[in-house]
Amino acid sequence: MPERTYDPALEKATNRWMWWGLAIMVVMVAIFPLYRVYEPSARAEARDLQLASLVEQGGAIYSLNCASCHGQNGEGGLGPALNSQQFLTSAVDQQVSALIAVGVPGSQMGAYSLDFGGPLTSEQIEAITAYLRAWEEGAPDMPDWRDPLGLAGGG
Ligand code: HEC
Repeated sequence: MPERTYDPALEKATNRWMWWGLAIMVVMVAIFPLYRVYEPSARAEARDLQLASLVEQGGAIYSLNCASCHGQNGEGGLGPALNSQQFLTSAVDQQVSALIAVGVPGSQMGAYSLDFGGPLTSEQIEAITAYLRAWEEGAPDMPDWRDPLGLAGGG
């Protein structure tokens, strides 16, 4: 029977590979929970950026289409004050978008949706709604928000 020769160099090399493999596995096991911790906050950050960009677009569309009646900062004029607590806390986003889309028949408030002959897509209307919603924090208390110029009379 030929004796198998023991090769210490080979044994050393094999061990070295095994230790590296173990070290890499440990690193990966340690990184996975870190990924789980950081990934949701990365998503939340992406969501915030997305919303900020929507608000910015909405602001540009608002300035062009709405500011003449509702005021550059929503303070109102010919139309109701849209930056008021009274308006913003009483309507959810879907209602606001729907109001902008269909307008108020028989008033100066036209229908803005392409579906009703207006100039804006539903994405543009949603952007305006996001812009108005961003006013909610710190919106002034304005009981007379529907008639900011006092046109209806009665003081
Ligand atoms: C020509 C003037 C005018 C323009 C331009 C205008 N609005 Fe209006 N808006 C009004 C008037 C007037 C009312 C009140 C209608 C009523 O209730 O009689 C109104 C009502 C509204 C309301 C409902 C508020 C409530 O009573 O609950 C919203 C929301 C609104 N406008 C958003 C917008 C947005 C957004 C734009 C731009 C896309 C816009 N408006 C453009 C005049 C205007």
